[in-house]
Amino acid sequence: MDRVGAGRPRIPTHLFSSTMTVRSDGHLLIGGVAARTIAEEVGTPVFVYDEDHIRARLREAVAAFSGTIAYASKAFLCRAMAEIVAEEGVHLDAASMGEIYVALQGGVSPAKIVFHGNNKSTRELEYATSIGVGRIVVDSFDELERLNALTQEPIDIWLRLTPGIEAHTHEFIRTGQDDSKFGFNVGNGDADRAVQWVANHRNLRLRGLHSHIGSQIFRLESFSEEVEVVAEFVQRYQLEELNLGGGLGVSYLEEETAPSVVDWVKAVDQAATRLGLAGETKLFLEPGRAIVATAGLTLYAVGTRKEIPGIRRYVSIDGGMSDNPRPVLYGSGYAVYAAERLFDLHDEEWSVAGKHCESGDIIVKDGLLPRDLRLGELLVTPVTGAYGYAMSSNYNKVPRPPVVFIGGGVMRVVVRGETLDDLVRLDA
Ligand SMILES: Cc1ncc(COP(=O)(O)O)c(C=O)c1O
Repeated sequence: MDRVGAGRPRIPTHLFSSTMTVRSDGHLLIGGVAARTIAEEVGTPVFVYDEDHIRARLREAVAAFSGTIAYASKAFLCRAMAEIVAEEGVHLDAASMGEIYVALQGGVSPAKIVFHGNNKSTRELEYATSIGVGRIVVDSFDELERLNALTQEPIDIWLRLTPGIEAHTHEFIRTGQDDSKFGFNVGNGDADRAVQWVANHRNLRLRGLHSHIGSQIFRLESFSEEVEVVAEFVQRYQLEELNLGGGLGVSYLEEETAPSVVDWVKAVDQAATRLGLAGETKLFLEPGRAIVATAGLTLYAVGTRKEIPGIRRYVSIDGGMSDNPRPVLYGSGYAVYAAERLFDLHDEEWSVAGKHCESGDIIVKDGLLPRDLRLGELLVTPVTGAYGYAMSSNYNKVPRPPVVFIGGGVMRVVVRGETLDDLVRLDA
């Protein structure tokens, strides 16, 4: 990759998808398609996904892991994404009836769906059982009762365990610690009681266990610790299956270096082998972020600029917290670049502000951009493929942006941008 202006480090390729290149005039290309062409054809803001990158990550994970990969659809889902999951033959983790529905629309086989959630409604459980989802991951005693009462045919379930592990990540996306709304705690005996409960009820068939310690985790040792706690459980009850969740982190900033998907699945395999699970227990992993985050980026157009001498420069873009709530939710950082002149010097601090009525609607605080930012020029924030569009909203009645996929050098709109009419389509 070429330089972003003299004196600046090389553009961090690890923040971009594998088919990202820079034209000789400094213009960003994804799969050979220019950022300006995308903006002209579908407008801004726009989510751009590199389909080849998504498929490559899934294939790598499948090839390197001894068990089964289920894509965690909460990270990003639309019909076209579900089609990729179906074509690549991986399983899919759904956390609501809506995610199951979209997965089916994309051709995912119900048998390959794993259904999660700490409060699945009776309607959702009925739907899941009627279509025959592969596994229901039961999260609480109330859910055990609810599911048991629903069926006469035995249903294959996993129990979600809370292993009591404090993963090194933001507290809102930590899920394995004792104080969690998710799952049956191992530490206080609830997990053992849940196993006993299932043994006493014939309508539910316990096929295995599930645990997930959190998201955006860089330390592979956290996953090994997780395997240690749950392996003991699987062995004690001689269960056939163990799903260790997702959670692998990705680099959002230039200075970050995350383990690869291959490093992660190998670390899990090694821990499982060390603990005697190899060949005995069928393993599953559920990556979301690590599959789609770097495959996606967002293009915005510069709308207004404001300089407060001695304090800060603001550049306001045509999106914000409605298409990317992560900065507001978790204080997440992003990199930002001038997408049509990557070779220009990026050496001035600009805070990239969204268009929403919240002072906190800042997508990048004090990012480095060219000094002479121009109205209408395109900015790119890389690594927005996970939990961006998936968490988007219509705050301030801003229509959601379109999503395009670029695969084999061809661009296609996979989710159209919302119109003003869409903003009232549900109004009674
Ligand atoms: C149960 C479960 N599995 C998998 C995931 C995917 O996590 P990630 O996107 O960090 O890989 C999540 C996300 O929080 C989850 O709750």
